Parts: sequence; structure tokens; C-alpha cells
Amino acid sequence: MLPAPFIAAVEAAIGANRLLTASDDLVRYGVDRTTVWQPAPAAVALPGSSDEVRQLVLLANQYDVAVVPSGGRTGLSGGAVAKNGELVVAMDRLNEVIEFNPIDRSVTVGAGVVTQVLQDFAEQHGLFYPVDFASAGSSQIGGNIATNAGGIKVIRYGMTRDWVLGLKVVTGSGELLELNRGLLKNNTGYDLRHLFIGSEGTLGLICEATIKLARPPVDLAVLVLGVNDFPAIMAVLEKYTNALDLTAFEFFSEAALVRVTEHTGLARPFESVAPFYALLEFEQGGDQLDTAMALFEECLEAELVCDGVVSQSLSQAANLWKLREDISETLWHWKPYKNDISVLVSKMPEFIVEVDALVAERYPSFEVVWYGHIGDGNLHLNILKPDDLSIEAFTEQCGTVSSEVSALVERYQGSISAEHGVGLLKKPYLKHSKSEQEINLMRAIRHSFDPNGILNPGKLFD
Ligand code: MLT
Ligand code: ZN
Repeated sequence: MLPAPFIAAVEAAIGANRLLTASDDLVRYGVDRTTVWQPAPAAVALPGSSDEVRQLVLLANQYDVAVVPSGGRTGLSGGAVAKNGELVVAMDRLNEVIEFNPIDRSVTVGAGVVTQVLQDFAEQHGLFYPVDFASAGSSQIGGNIATNAGGIKVIRYGMTRDWVLGLKVVTGSGELLELNRGLLKNNTGYDLRHLFIGSEGTLGLICEATIKLARPPVDLAVLVLGVNDFPAIMAVLEKYTNALDLTAFEFFSEAALVRVTEHTGLARPFESVAPFYALLEFEQGGDQLDTAMALFEECLEAELVCDGVVSQSLSQAANLWKLREDISETLWHWKPYKNDISVLVSKMPEFIVEVDALVAERYPSFEVVWYGHIGDGNLHLNILKPDDLSIEAFTEQCGTVSSEVSALVERYQGSISAEHGVGLLKKPYLKHSKSEQEINLMRAIRHSFDPNGILNPGKLFD
């Protein structure tokens, strides 16, 4: 229950019809894409400006109300889950493209602008916003920044962090900050903008962002290869990255392909069945396509791959991409337990052998589905929930194995969350990727931005 004077003050600040308390709104705004926690916020506020966000934060401090910042809620680690009577502050109404500057190749947008809208805007102006993933149609820029979203083009274009030129934020204590002013070069001490990127709503609320845009890639080709075993994927990657500027190098297992083709009705890429598939994308101009085909022959001869197909049209390319991009949505129906781990690409050949053996031993009766951005050293290991097991029992069993996977990741100096963030789901494993000293410093930073601890309590670390 929120205090009555707090509700009255919020309604006065943003308008009574902008404070939602109907149970379907609470359910909708209280969860992300995780299926573990039950939503139970007390109310949802929809501010219409940075100033209204600021007023909400000041009131939350005054009345000691916990705030959960909310974007498109497509996250996979529970970072936007509100389960304890919090006030959700959703950025849906901050959805304007505020300013476009073709000379600086930058665009300033409200935090609630949907990723796809930004991508389309860039395209209409002959430019390109390269951060892309399956949930681009509903994820919001503010949420992408708060989680430093990655996606399918990181190998060439990097993560969200690499495209943020400036931020307007409201800190947990209600200060409005303009960070980096959209500048390309600005060496004036600590760059607080970068602290907010990936902060998972624990330092402040992102209200606006200035985003850099790129030259669009030209004439992309998609190549899907059937790969003979796990280590062969890395050998194929090495050959292709040495010869081409790839815009993507993704992989998925036969189990993922079976599920996705059954669920979507998409055709398999070719008749041969392989344990794994690699999806490569590159600009095919000049002699790039010939190089790719020559490498394919080499890979066939070396028995790294057993079959392959290259796109002949935009629609074929899009369909090949769907085989990879639709996996996450397809698996969602089995309430998967998700691991999102990374190591250096150079360590991947040894790492995958060990992690594969560990998983085979510890999940003998669960279906394990692999896919991910292997060109970035990032594996998504999804365990599907058997129908006869409760979500609680399933999560607990997978959590135990995750501790072992995390210990292995630590031994390889990798990350327990390559791109999905920590939220609630990965919090127990953070110690495997960050030292105690680092977590203590993070705690101190959090305290200086949010001294009363009102923002996203319980997320990232306690
Ligand atoms: C993906 O790579 O498809 C996304 O990170 C989502 C997921 O892992 O399920
Ligand atoms: Zn991913």
C-alpha cells in the first residue's frame, strides 16, 4: 500500500489518469520476460517529461517509496520485476524523437522510444542504428541503455554503450543531470554517462539519450553452415573472421532449430542435419562473396562443416535470420532457465568442451538448448522446464547447476552475464565475475546516487 498523501502528490504532479492501479496494469507493468516472479507493484506512474520524473523521484524519497524503472520489459534477468508493492515508473510517454543532427550524425530521443522506431528513423535518413535483437519491436532505448543491450551485430558494431553520446538522467536523489552533451570528445574527468549504461535502474532514471548513427551496411549476404561439432564452430569462426569483416557470427544447436521450425513453420536451411549451425552475415560486394564461398569449400574439405546455404534474396536472408532470431520467443513457451555467459573468444575452444561436459553431466534429464553470439564469445545456454516440474523446483535445480557453471566461468575469467544483465536472476552469481572490492565500490557508487536506496531495491546486489 502506498501512503495516501504520496498518491495525492503523485496525481497532482503527473495527472490522476497517469497513475494506474488496475490489476491488469499492475500485472503487465510488474514483470519482464522472466517467468519466475509474480508481479505485485502498488501502482504504475506514467510521467510525461524529465521534470515529472524528477518530481516522482523527489516524492518517492520523501515518502520512502521504492521505485522500479520500467522500459519495454523485454529483459531476461528480472531487472524490471516489481514484486513488493513498489511504484513502477514507466517511460512509455517519453517516446518522442527530439532532435536529429545530420552533421553530427546523432539523434536525441526520449527513453521510451522503441528500438525499432529508432532503427526506422535512422533508415529514413539514410543512416543506421546497428544495435539489433529480436525484441527490437518492443524494447525501449532507455531500457537498452540501462542494461547495455547487445544483440546480433556486436561482433561488428559493439554494444549499446558504443552508441550513446549523451544522457539526460534523474538520479536516485532527484538531481537532473546532462551527461556528456552529445560530444564525441570530452576528456573532463569521470564520464558519468558510462556509469548509467548498464546500471540496471539502480543509479537513476534515464529520460533522454543522444545516440550516434552509422553508415548503413550495403548488400548483406547471410550464410548458414551446418557445423560438425562444437569445437569446429570456433575453427570456422577463425577462418571467416581472418578473411571478412563479418557483421554477425551466430550459432544455434539442432535442438534449437527443431523447436524453432516446429513453432514457426519456417523451413530448415538445408536437408542435412548437423549438431550445430553457424549463421554469418557480411557485405557481399567486391570479392567478399567469392571469398566466403572459397572458405566454405575449405571448411567442407577439412570436415568442419557438412552443408551450407547462402541467401539469394532479401527475403531468403530474412528467413535465415528468423531461424536464429525466433529461438528466444519460441523457447519462452517452455519457461527456460537462461544462462548468458561469455569468455574471451581465444579461450572459447577449451571452455566449450568443459561447459558442454558439465552440462551433460548435471542436466541428464533436462533438454538443453544452445545458441548465441559465439563470435562475441557469448553462449546462451537454455534449459527447458519439464511439464511435470513446478517452476520453483525447476529454478532451484537449475540454480544449483548455474553455481557450477558460474565457477567454471570464473576459472576462465569470463562473465556470468554477457548481455542480459544481473537483475534478480544473476545476483547470486555476481561474485564469480566481480571481486568483493569491486562490489563494495559499486555499492558506494550506488549510495552516492541513491542515498535513500529507493531505486530498484534488491536488484544487481543487496
Ligand atoms: C538472443 O540472443 O536471442 C537474446 O539474447 C535472447 C535470449 O537469449 O533468449
Ligand atoms: Zn543474446
